[in-house]
Amino acid sequence: MKGVILAGGNGTRLMPLTSVTNKSLLPVYDRPMIFHPIQMMVDSGIEEILIVTSGKTAGEMVRVLGDGSQFGLKRLYFTLQEKAGGIAHALALAEQFAEGDKVFVVLGDNLVFGADISHEVRRFANSGPGAKVFLKPVPDPERFGVATVDGTRIVSIEEKPRQPKSNLAVTGLYLFDETVFCKIATLKPSARGELEVTDLNKLYLREGRLRCAMLDGDWIDAGTFDSLVEASRMAQQAAVSQNRLAVAA
Ligand code: G1P
Repeated sequence: MKGVILAGGNGTRLMPLTSVTNKSLLPVYDRPMIFHPIQMMVDSGIEEILIVTSGKTAGEMVRVLGDGSQFGLKRLYFTLQEKAGGIAHALALAEQFAEGDKVFVVLGDNLVFGADISHEVRRFANSGPGAKVFLKPVPDPERFGVATVDGTRIVSIEEKPRQPKSNLAVTGLYLFDETVFCKIATLKPSARGELEVTDLNKLYLREGRLRCAMLDGDWIDAGTFDSLVEASRMAQQAAVSQNRLAVAA
C-alpha cells in the first residue's frame, strides 16, 4: 500500500503565518506540522509516500523533507497541485505513483495523537475491494463530513450538513482501493467548484463498499489559529506520555 499526503491549498485561513512558509511546515509543538502525518504513516507500515503540495513556498517542503530517509522511508515523492481543485482533484495526481496499489490518504493538516491505526491499515491492505474512513465524535460536526453508521458499515455521508444526522465527523484519513482513480474521473465539481472527497466516498457507499473505523486518541484539523494552538497542546501531551512510558520501561 502507498501513502499520499495532501498538503495543498493556499492556507488563507492561516495568513499571515502562511506568508512565511507553507502551512504544512508551520510548527506543531516540536516539529513541522507535516512530520506528524508522515510519522503516522511510517508507524502504520507505509514505506513510500507522495506529497501533493501547492503554493509559492512548496519548494521549502523538499528542502525540509529531503529524500525521506530521516523517517526511514524507502521513497518520498513530491508533486504540485497547480490550481486549487479540491481533495479528490489533488488525489488524482497520485495515480501514476500508486501503480495500481491501494492508497492510504491523509490530509496534511489532520493530526492524530495517541492512536495506533496500524492494525486497520494492515487489515485493509489484505482485504477485498472498497474504502474505509476513520470517524471521530465531535461537538461541532457541521464543520466536517458527517456519517451515520450501522456497526462498521457507513449508512450515509454528507459534507458539512447544516443539520448533522450524527456527531460523527469523517476525519481526513482515508483508505481507498485501486478503483479510486477511475471513480475520481467520474466526479463533477461541487457548488464550491471542487472535486469533493465526500462525493468520492459516496461512490463507494453506492457500491456498498464504504466501511469505517472509530479513531482512538486525539484528532484535530489544524487549519485555523485556534486549532493550531490546540494541536501543539495535544502533541505536547502525547510527547509527555510517551516519555513517561519510555522512562517506565
Ligand atoms: C475536508 C473534507 C471533510 C473532512 C475534513 C477533515 O474538509 O471535505 O469531509 O471532514 O476535511 O478535516 P475541508 O477541511 O477541506 O473543509
